[in-house]
Amino acid sequence: MTPRKVAIKKKAPTEENLFRIPRGMHDILPADQVWWERIDKTARELADFYNFQRIETPILEQVSLFERTVGGDTDIVQKEMYTLKTKGGDFLALRPEGTAPVMRAYLDHGLGSLGQPQKFFYQGPFFRHENPQAGRFRQFYQIGFEIIGGVNDPIYDAQVILIFDRLLKGLKIKNTILKVNSIGCKICRPNYKRQLANYYKRYEKDLCNNCLRRLKVNPLRLLDCKNQNCQPFKEKAPNLFDKICTSCGRHLRAVLEYLDELEIVYELDNTLVRGLDYYSQTVFEFYATDSNIGALPGGGRYDYLAEFLGSKATAAVGGATGVERLIEVMKTQEVKWPSRTPRKVFLVHVGDLAKKKSLKIVEELRSAGIPVGEALGKESVKAQLKQADKQGSVLAIIFGQKEIFEESVIIRDLRTGLQESVILSKMVFEIQKRLKERPVENK
Ligand code: HAM
Repeated sequence: MTPRKVAIKKKAPTEENLFRIPRGMHDILPADQVWWERIDKTARELADFYNFQRIETPILEQVSLFERTVGGDTDIVQKEMYTLKTKGGDFLALRPEGTAPVMRAYLDHGLGSLGQPQKFFYQGPFFRHENPQAGRFRQFYQIGFEIIGGVNDPIYDAQVILIFDRLLKGLKIKNTILKVNSIGCKICRPNYKRQLANYYKRYEKDLCNNCLRRLKVNPLRLLDCKNQNCQPFKEKAPNLFDKICTSCGRHLRAVLEYLDELEIVYELDNTLVRGLDYYSQTVFEFYATDSNIGALPGGGRYDYLAEFLGSKATAAVGGATGVERLIEVMKTQEVKWPSRTPRKVFLVHVGDLAKKKSLKIVEELRSAGIPVGEALGKESVKAQLKQADKQGSVLAIIFGQKEIFEESVIIRDLRTGLQESVILSKMVFEIQKRLKERPVENK
């Protein structure tokens, strides 16, 4: 019997998954916008205050930009990039991180010829095809600060750490710890890596699969293993602090002295190595001790990154924090935020003709800088007043047939129930006056 060709059916979208958000992505609903707006505002104000200038790079970059800088053997490049081939033959990736793109832009636009160093600030979405879990999304937002150019001065490392410390404080996030380490330079690190690999080779048969892979491709990352069975090996591993060269040791000490001066508390952690290949010397991460969501801001020095891109050595240091993680911690810690601008004034219309004219009244109030609440789709006065009450409004502007003919409005103080008719041309003045006054109780 000749075998029949079996048509392979493509998996059709089912009713169930047709309208579901893709795995690992999340919507930012109106109720959460206050958190996002507050973080955005705090970050922008800090950037301005500390002279970091906003930079925006595209969502898509060449795949090779990340292969060369983040590292061909890292999880990000090996497993997590969303890539696509364009019709023109470009091989692009949805940016998994922001440092390489900012350096690409710095080199691309010759920003090295401006006053050095250049200080950059960015925020926006990044993409990694990771296993979604708490605090780990496939599309997530980062806020980043980078200092590029000039000399390798540890004061810049301290400045980057300082701005993240201030960001966390500005967001009222408590119980944070800062971990700092130095992973050395291209002179001392290869030696340490060799010693580390030789040490781990003795335990090869007991290591987890991830460690076995790291032993071959990037021994430094063995120190990052979270597997319970591998912890005893990590504890007895050769200590990075003892192996970095004199110059890296001096650099680390200087960074720590600046942090002492700033009274920023830190913990030296000789197992902190970070998951991207471009770092040298200082690396750091902030955590919230009452949350196991993972690192908040994280970063370090990356003096070799420009060289990886074929340019001359360029001193650079920076960091980035996940915004979703900040929000999660703020929610857990019940950080109190003033909600959005209260709509203290609410327009209530009575009847069709008033409805027609009411948009103009709302506009007049808005142009005078008075935020106005309204429920113009509702006809019943009771329903409109109920909404005013829900929004916490203190004054209702009542506007009906009689007021149209008299060119007036009624201003009712919702706290006292007192109301008064005022002529339209005086409306803004009368409202502003009442918003400043304390209410007089209705006896
Ligand atoms: P990173 O450690 O990969 O470093 O990411 C920085 C921060 O972004 C993390 O500490 C975390 O808060 C957040 N983050 C990372 N991945 C996710 C995810 N899948 N879901 C939610 N949040 C996430 C970098 O990206 C470097 N570019 C940081 C840097 C800037 N180094 C020097 N300059």
